[in-house]
Amino acid sequence: MAQDTKGKRVLFICLGNICRSPIAEAVFQWVVEEERGLEGWEIDSAAIGSWHVGLGPDRRAVQTMKKHNIPMNHKARQLKRADFGNYDYIFGMDHENIEDIETKAPPAHEAIIELFGKYDPQKELIIRDPYYDDDDAGFEKCYQQCLRCSRGFLDSLK
Ligand code: 4NP
Repeated sequence: MAQDTKGKRVLFICLGNICRSPIAEAVFQWVVEEERGLEGWEIDSAAIGSWHVGLGPDRRAVQTMKKHNIPMNHKARQLKRADFGNYDYIFGMDHENIEDIETKAPPAHEAIIELFGKYDPQKELIIRDPYYDDDDAGFEKCYQQCLRCSRGFLDSLK
């Protein structure tokens, strides 16, 4: 069957919107546009918390994306009610994200709320928070997971 390439609206969520979700956004955008050549997608990321609103991603996230030649241009923003009407998919990185997203959701909405890791062909369900790590290994791992999940999600739309 042909792939459903109709553009969808996808929002990535993590706690602070400076590590995991901006990486997921950048990698997914790259896979959609550069690797698959798809058009008409709306892709963004946002935070559960407000601590880092207006700031760019963590420098280790920036370095990791540079290493892989993936453009990343994002300023942290907080998840808002309107997002539940503006996006088809809202992806969290861990179970706590999903609980927080569901708590913020209005009673009636059509957005599909899921773990991004659900689409990992290697079945690694959780994209662990590397923010408190002493090095950047967790950021590289986050990138690898996001790449697999991005491809896996697009492959699932058939
Ligand atoms: P993120 O990582 O949710 O992947 O952006 C974090 C960033 C900041 C904090 C926690 C996690 N924080 O507590 O400030």
